[in-house]
Amino acid sequence: MALRDNHGPAIDEILARYAQRRSAVIPLLYIAQDEYGHLTDEAIREVAAILELPPTDVFEVVGFYTLFYDKPVGTWVLQVCDDVPCCFLGAEQLVETLESKLGIVADQTTDDKMFTLQRVKCLADCDRAPMLQANLEYFRNLDTPEKVDALLTELRQRAASGEVLSVSGRFAKG
Ligand code: FES
Repeated sequence: MALRDNHGPAIDEILARYAQRRSAVIPLLYIAQDEYGHLTDEAIREVAAILELPPTDVFEVVGFYTLFYDKPVGTWVLQVCDDVPCCFLGAEQLVETLESKLGIVADQTTDDKMFTLQRVKCLADCDRAPMLQANLEYFRNLDTPEKVDALLTELRQRAASGEVLSVSGRFAKG
């Protein structure tokens, strides 16, 4: 139970916010994701035990939300919205550009573990497409290869600078 051992006070503080333990599922999953890097089956079962829930209930939450990762991911998770409105504004070209520059396809991670590329549905920023979410930050109007190059360079530099980036992106700057 590494979560309890390493984050006991934080977990208790979160549980105290809610009338029902199950309501704390999302904040506890973020703690677990930051502890383990991604949500392993064991991590999900740990969260379920803390919340006194059937593990299936917690697995369902992890499966529903795209900011929970059930497989290892890179420092930066690049989530490109490929929903219909963004496709009209170049989402597919953005995915192709990223795939070409990173040497991976969607749902893969670069060999240096810097970037994971994912396709997601509407991120509520339809008028500034093509866009992506890197951890929790939005980057918009990525409509040329040069802008994508600049973004990847910026993200690499920030990772190298020692900036604290939780896997969940909770500490990423807005
Ligand atoms: S359809 Fe892409 S952000 Fe809404």
